[in-house]
Amino acid sequence: MELAGCAHPGKPGGPVPPDVETLRVAGARRGLLAGCAVQVHHLRDDPAYAALVAQQAGIVVDESALKFGPLRPSPTEYFFDDADYLFEFAKKHKQKVRGHNFVWHQQIPSWFASYVTSANAERVLVEHIEHVGGRYAGRVHSWDVVNEAILLSDNLPGGFRKSGWQVVLPGKDAAVPAYIEIAFRTARRVDPKAMLVYNDYGIEADDAASVKKRAAVMALLRNMQSRGIPVDALGVQSHLTAGSRDAFGPEYAYGSGLRAMIAEARRMGLKVLLTEMDVNDRKLPADTAARDAAVAATYGGYLREALADEAVVALLTWGITDKYTWLSYDRKRDDKLPQRCLPFDSQMNAAPAFFAERDAIDGAGHRA
Ligand code: XIL
Repeated sequence: MELAGCAHPGKPGGPVPPDVETLRVAGARRGLLAGCAVQVHHLRDDPAYAALVAQQAGIVVDESALKFGPLRPSPTEYFFDDADYLFEFAKKHKQKVRGHNFVWHQQIPSWFASYVTSANAERVLVEHIEHVGGRYAGRVHSWDVVNEAILLSDNLPGGFRKSGWQVVLPGKDAAVPAYIEIAFRTARRVDPKAMLVYNDYGIEADDAASVKKRAAVMALLRNMQSRGIPVDALGVQSHLTAGSRDAFGPEYAYGSGLRAMIAEARRMGLKVLLTEMDVNDRKLPADTAARDAAVAATYGGYLREALADEAVVALLTWGITDKYTWLSYDRKRDDKLPQRCLPFDSQMNAAPAFFAERDAIDGAGHRA
């Protein structure tokens, strides 16, 4: 599918002309799956957006449709319309689909707190994964089985977050909570073809908090492996912030710690997926050109480091156009200007970040 017009061939600020290789094609050439998160309702109601996703993404994931809350209006009901739509869309456009996610502390249904107890929690979790994972089994590239289980400030042993699932299913092993073990074992049984991922944020930079969190995440993965719990990949969310390096000092640069974490995952036999990349611009001044340049530099710098390791087999941005980004409602700029955080701007023209992402992909070696 081609986008009409090419006001600035190959340059930021215009639609990507047909002769500029797309992210999905450039990635595929190097054995790297490149794609993005989508919002199904906009795939339905915005044809230009749907065309852009079809053109650029070789792999897609919905921002919410497969989460527990959106899927489960009540303990006995499932709402599959949005997820089904995405699987159909992806089939039509020859895209892979990620599953996000079976277990998370957010977007859980309002009935969860009163309905789920220590007595029934294992059954609820297993049935959920059987029902949802089973429906799409064989069609999912990778499942984020557990999302964001580490929160050091909750002060639990192992650094685990005091989430709803942790409270009802802690288990007796402080190194791997029961809910994590149950979720991964059930996911493997239900969809043996899907890559099983542990996904988290705040593990990319080299400041003290990220270094500690990274260590807790890698310890969890090692402890899972030593107990024979099936896990195939580490998901590095990659929600980055441009300009924080200047604000907080050079330790906020993305580099050696990230490289070491990816190399460690590789030595453990794990793949690495960059699952949710975007670059928050709220620490940057209002000037559009300056913001775009700094955001693009963050894309380029980060991806050059991360893609240098062939363990990294997928790269997804969390959205494709600034028109639809969670940062516009979840992480607003103080001056209320819209965020310019994704490879395409709100008009769906290529931003400097698109070219930075393309350059980084082009510079990456071929994955086995
Ligand atoms: C976000 C979605 O983008 C929003 O639309 C939703 O309201 C909240 O969740 N880390 C994750 C994602 O793992 O699931 C989050 O997605 C963004 C942060």
